[in-house]
Amino acid sequence: MAEAPFGLLAELTHRCPLQCGYCSNPLELVRRDAELSTEDWRRVFDQARALGCLQIHLSGGEPLLRPDLPELVAHANSLGCYVNLVTSGVGLSRDRLRELASLGVDHVQLSLQDATKEGNDRIAGIKAFDRKVEAAAHVLDEGLPLTVNTVLHRQNLDNIAGIIAMAEQMGAERLELANTQYYGWALRNRAVLLPTRAQLAIADPIVAAAQERLRGRMEIVYVIADYHEAHPKPCMYGWGARQLTVAPNGDVLPCPAATVISSLTIENVRDSSLHEIWHDSPSFNAFRGFEWMQDPCRSCPRKEIDFGGCRCQAFQLTGDAAATDPVCSLSPERSTVDLILETEMAPAEVPAMAMRKMR
Ligand code: SF4
Ligand code: FES
Repeated sequence: MAEAPFGLLAELTHRCPLQCGYCSNPLELVRRDAELSTEDWRRVFDQARALGCLQIHLSGGEPLLRPDLPELVAHANSLGCYVNLVTSGVGLSRDRLRELASLGVDHVQLSLQDATKEGNDRIAGIKAFDRKVEAAAHVLDEGLPLTVNTVLHRQNLDNIAGIIAMAEQMGAERLELANTQYYGWALRNRAVLLPTRAQLAIADPIVAAAQERLRGRMEIVYVIADYHEAHPKPCMYGWGARQLTVAPNGDVLPCPAATVISSLTIENVRDSSLHEIWHDSPSFNAFRGFEWMQDPCRSCPRKEIDFGGCRCQAFQLTGDAAATDPVCSLSPERSTVDLILETEMAPAEVPAMAMRKMR
């Protein structure tokens, strides 16, 4: 039997005021009228807690767009869960945050697109920087811990030192610097977003030095740009191992991007319990353990470290979700990634960023 998950990522809505080109949500977003109801979410939280989840991450899209957010926060809190609000900061007024904190929000994770107002608002597609700075101040005033999350790519990687300084200035306890993962909408913009080797060669030591300098004050988590690496990331720390995601329409996903694997049959909370889905569903059991692996992963000692990489990336780049992640230098398909790096980073061919505008 699989071990209990640590956390539930509750994607309350796909609606979002931002228009980021690196958005990893699916191309086809869940419409507002297809979102789970308040009662549905309460039941999902009950089932997640009974399954063993201790953390509930309220995410989206922008969770502040759900009018029932206070009720959902209160319910998650009543179950004894640690409640994390994952937000763009747009709409997080002092009063709104005060109410949510009083009902049980324990932590806020705030997105930041770039170090400066001009850069941030260009990447976000709206004027959001000032509202983010204000939201960060409200979080600190409420005495809540703050994580700043910046998705890195070619358009902001040169400003990495400024992004770190901005997170320090905002009073973050933790900074997540996550290189873009190419799923969903982000895949469309890969040619605009892929960082160059030269950018990474400058950024990596800046991050390492800041990690050292800020040790004990602000933790910096750095997620690698895996196309440039010799080995893949241990995606999700293994399939169906630590966390489950419930999409706005109730689809239950072993990883937030799992809908890209079109060969996977996805279960829904309207039809089955989270307990059944976590333990018994074909989707969650598809890539657990090592039995499903093919060579070279099957006979590779690193399989216990990286679990063969990312299933979604393997499917997107090879058409086989059980293949070795092609970013791995041992993969017979590594040339696919090398070709992408070669062709999509040629400066003369860089197209304009396709912004993610909600209908
Ligand atoms: Fe990881 Fe598989 Fe590559 Fe080995 S062959 S390093 S297990 S992805
Ligand atoms: Fe789905 Fe990596 S993003 S397994």
